Amino acid sequence: MSANQVAIRANGPYVCTGRIIVCDDAGSALREGAQVALCRCGASNDKPFCDGSHNRVGFADAGGCAKPEAGAVSGDGPLRVTVKKDGPLFLEGPVQVQAADGSVAFSGDKTWLCRCGQSQNKPFCDGTHKKVGFTG
Ligand code: FES
Repeated sequence: MSANQVAIRANGPYVCTGRIIVCDDAGSALREGAQVALCRCGASNDKPFCDGSHNRVGFADAGGCAKPEAGAVSGDGPLRVTVKKDGPLFLEGPVQVQAADGSVAFSGDKTWLCRCGQSQNKPFCDGTHKKVGFTG
């Protein structure tokens, strides 16, 4: 199992633990640490970080995963999270994503997670951010 974990919180953020490096789309580091909470409702005023706005806007998502993607995880390197402009979080590096019920939503070393809050295939990005004009 990877040392890097992303826990999906019901009605709340992604809580990333391990060796986490959050970068902007240009590759500049925004934050590095052992625990980072990232917005997944799309409403934070401190994107890509969670500022508790999910409570303010009444974000309602149980944090499940209809289509888990469980693959092999190799290595013990850091998890690099690139915040795509007006789009998803791009995860690179060994990681396991846990649904709110503790089941594995994803394991592997490359995936895209929704941060606009409106994907129909959460936690994964399905391109809905373009349709809804997500910015951030
Ligand atoms: S970021 Fe939400 S669907 Fe792409």
